[in-house]
Amino acid sequence: MEKWQTNGEQETIDLGASFAKTKLKLGDVVALIGELGSGKTRFIKGICSGLGVSEHVSSPSFTIVNEYTSNIGKIFHFDFYRIASPSELSEIGFDDYIYDEGICLIEWANRVKDLLPSNRYDVLFTLGDSDTVREIVINNVNEEIK
Ligand SMILES: Nc1ncnc2c1ncn2[C@@H]1O[C@H](COP(=O)(O)OP(=O)(O)OP(=O)(O)O)[C@@H](O)[C@H]1O
Ligand SMILES: [Mg+2]
Repeated sequence: MEKWQTNGEQETIDLGASFAKTKLKLGDVVALIGELGSGKTRFIKGICSGLGVSEHVSSPSFTIVNEYTSNIGKIFHFDFYRIASPSELSEIGFDDYIYDEGICLIEWANRVKDLLPSNRYDVLFTLGDSDTVREIVINNVNEEIK
């Protein structure tokens, strides 16, 4: 487990970028969990910039998934804030994405808990003591279980 505190959105973006560059490889799944405005999308912007994505990165609230092209391959960005039931996921073929060789980044992943692979990163966001502070915990889930 790695625990960080960031002050301001740029530090969260930078943390996402260094996490991506040091840890992520094709096929990885990253579950991002935390309340509204806690920094999930900023962290994903960082991941994408760390991996050389040039497309605009924003939450795919209505389309469910955005696809970007990185230096190492495809990135799929999901946001399940508005998902009503996990059965909606079979409609978009979620399983096919998860087991694809691309990288999956999933905001509000706690809403689809049962459908996540056991081998993944969990990134947990909480609001800090001031408006600009966030606590960010990164867990490599399989590593924890061992
Ligand atoms: N340390 C920080 N890290 C990240 N964002 C911060 C920080 N301090 C302030 N902010 C602000 O908090 C907001 C975070 O927004 P962001 O869209 O990343 O949150 P989110 O968790 O994706 O929210 P949602 O659940 O609505 O998708 C931004 O407005 C950003 O400027
Ligand atoms: Mg978001």
